[in-house]
Amino acid sequence: MNRPEKLVENRTESPRLYSSGQTRLYNLNRKSDSVSIVGMGYVGLCTAATFASRGIRTVGIDIDNERVQQIRKGKAPLHEPQLDTMLRKAVKTKLLEATTDTSRAIDTTTTFLTVGTPSGADGSIDLSYLKTAVADLGKILSKKTGYHLVVVKSTVVPGTTNGAVKHSLEESSGKNVGPELGLCANPEFLKEGTAINDALHPDKIVIGSNDKKSANQLTKLYRRFYGSKLPPVITTNPESAELVKYASNAFLATKVSFINTIANIAQQIPGVDVGTIADALGRDPRIGPLFLKAGPGYGGSCFHKDLQALINYGHNTGYDPTLFRATEDTNEKQAIRVVSMAEKLLGSLSDKKVAILGLAFKQDTDDIREAASIRVINGLKKKGAQVIAYDPMAIPNTKRQLTNQISYAEDPHSVLKGADCAIIMTEWDQFQKLKPKDFQAFMNTPNIVDARRIYDSDEFKELNYAAIGLGRANP
Ligand code: UDX
Repeated sequence: MNRPEKLVENRTESPRLYSSGQTRLYNLNRKSDSVSIVGMGYVGLCTAATFASRGIRTVGIDIDNERVQQIRKGKAPLHEPQLDTMLRKAVKTKLLEATTDTSRAIDTTTTFLTVGTPSGADGSIDLSYLKTAVADLGKILSKKTGYHLVVVKSTVVPGTTNGAVKHSLEESSGKNVGPELGLCANPEFLKEGTAINDALHPDKIVIGSNDKKSANQLTKLYRRFYGSKLPPVITTNPESAELVKYASNAFLATKVSFINTIANIAQQIPGVDVGTIADALGRDPRIGPLFLKAGPGYGGSCFHKDLQALINYGHNTGYDPTLFRATEDTNEKQAIRVVSMAEKLLGSLSDKKVAILGLAFKQDTDDIREAASIRVINGLKKKGAQVIAYDPMAIPNTKRQLTNQISYAEDPHSVLKGADCAIIMTEWDQFQKLKPKDFQAFMNTPNIVDARRIYDSDEFKELNYAAIGLGRANP
């Protein structure tokens, strides 16, 4: 049986690139020391900035000239804490160069592919960007003498690296994957908002390769990057590496849907608070305390997309992953539940003014992709409510998606003005600072649905307050 080889890297090796927190540059101008990254989106840019921060010369490649020009100015085209500072430094020290010219990859030893793999209509991943990037890279590599390693960092279903990518790479380069052309799968596990920290301190590195040469080159690169702090390196075949990424996101999403299920049960029992249940549950080391916060359901660019891709992949292999369908279904219904909670407080939502506090899929981001707030807003609109929303960062993105379907406020107080109900959709610090008197002073009637459970229910008991997973004494 073809069992994946599992190898945990020895971490005692001394750092080659830096020591005592200082960057010591070894032969950095040597072409052999540099990497290229194709796709300067979220993952590519964070990866490029952190590579450069560790003294590794990095060429960032993207087809979007506007994006490239912005990166050249040391300015990130997206919001991510620490990224701008890191990028400015990387560009200034010339350790990061941004270009639209894929041929620049030829001078580097390793090319990471970090282009997007969005969802197709049936949930399957769309490989068109990846295929184009591979074909372009392959043409360039056909002119290269010497070994080059290609690393798929984009999230792809099992079999993509050794299937579509390998096929296109071999065809366009005229070379065979093996002694002269390396190919690995190396998924990332970056979270929005903490991506830089995650890239600098990962809990593991997963390398999927077909041969020792490619795995060794990539491991060596990471050893240079992390020095004595090299995390465990799990070396396996490409298919297993690809599946690790999906398994990780499917597990986390399922954990969220699990606690939301418990919350919905708890909510029916007077005096029960899911927070207490989660606290006790999380102390069991087999369960762990993270990802047990009940709320309006998960959002973001990964969970829904990756679960749909995994479900679709399962179907294509003749297996129906019912658990993941339930995870997604529970998540979808959680937003409807938030709408029902508002309806219960108000009687009818028709022509009622509902204030949405928070649009981003989680705090400290301007990202509204798959955000629960959008599902809730759509549900409220269907019931005839007038929606006004405020978010410290995500209003421009929401305006692009929802245009003038709702109105927008400029601060947390003005969004409450004259509202019949307020729904807390994102756990922003500034919402956590609001007191019962703020709601009483500005709202028409202080009905509150705390979908993020950010308030102390005792403090809010004088108000018409409902929270996910909180079984009130007098529901
Ligand atoms: C996620 C994965 O964590 C990351 O490893 C992967 O690479 C990309 O997808 P991200 O999308 O940035 O990262 O968001 P994350 O912080 O994981 O949160 C996802 C969603 O789950 C958010 O909407 C969040 O509010 C929700 N969530 C998370 C909960 O509702 N409860 C929790 O306890 C944790």
